[in-house]
Amino acid sequence: MNNLPVDLFYEEFGSGQVFIFIHGFPLDHTTWLPIANIMKEKVRCILPDVRGLGRSPITGTEATIPEMAADVIRLMDRLNIQQAVISGHSMGGYIAMEMAHTYPDRVIGLGLIATRAAADTPEKMAARLESRREVLKNGRASIIKSMAPRLTEQSALLPKLVRVMEKSDPRGIAMCQYAMVNRADATAWLKAINYPIVVAAGGRDVIIPEDELRQLSQELKDGRFYYSPVADHMLPIIEPELIARALLETYVKD
Ligand code: MLT
Repeated sequence: MNNLPVDLFYEEFGSGQVFIFIHGFPLDHTTWLPIANIMKEKVRCILPDVRGLGRSPITGTEATIPEMAADVIRLMDRLNIQQAVISGHSMGGYIAMEMAHTYPDRVIGLGLIATRAAADTPEKMAARLESRREVLKNGRASIIKSMAPRLTEQSALLPKLVRVMEKSDPRGIAMCQYAMVNRADATAWLKAINYPIVVAAGGRDVIIPEDELRQLSQELKDGRFYYSPVADHMLPIIEPELIARALLETYVKD
C-alpha cells in the first residue's frame, strides 16, 4: 500500500452493539441517516465519510479498496471498537467485503446493500477510466450528470443527492474511481463466510440489478435476502425501515 491510513470524519448515534455504515460513490455518510435514526434506539451506529469524499481527508487521486478498508479499521481502533457489523451501500459494500476478508476478527456481520461482489467487467473498467480522465481534466460536472439519474428516479431525492455530489472534490471522485476499477472479486471470500450476511436489493435499481444480488444471497452459506420492488439504487434512503429491520433481526439478540 502507498497511502497510509487516514483519520476519517464520522458521525455517531446511539449506544450498545456497534454497526458501521459505509456510503457509496460519489456521496457521503448522510446516505445512512434515515437508517441510523431508526437503529439508534437499539444499537450504536457509526457513519464515516470515506477517504476523499464528504469531510474526510483527500490523499491524491489514487487509493485502493484495501486502503479504504484500513481507514475504517483505524477508525475502529480510534474508538476502541474491537468488532462490528459492517454495512456497505454500493462502493461502500466493496469496502465492507474487503474488511470482512482482510480483518475477519473485526467483522461479525455484513450488510450488503445494493452492492456487487464481482469485480468490474472489462467494459465497465474502460468506461470508469474514461470518466476518471474526464473528471481529472474538467471536474465533476460530467460524472454528476451521468450518475444522478442512475442513482435515483425519485424527483424529490435527486436534487438532494446532486447537492451532496456537488460538494465532492474531483480528486476524491477520481480516487474512488481508481479504487473501484482496481478492486478484487469478492465472491469467493463471501462464500467462505459462516455468519449470516444480509443482502438487499431494489427492484428498480439500474446500477446493480436485483437478480444479481438474489443469486449472490443464494450462493452464500447463510445469505438473508431482502427486497424492495419500489426502491432504486438509493435503497438505504428509500427503504430505511426494511434495511434497519434486516440488520436488527439478523444481528441483534432480543
Ligand atoms: C456506487 O453507487 O457506489 C457506485 O455506483 C458503485 C459502482 O459504480 O460500482
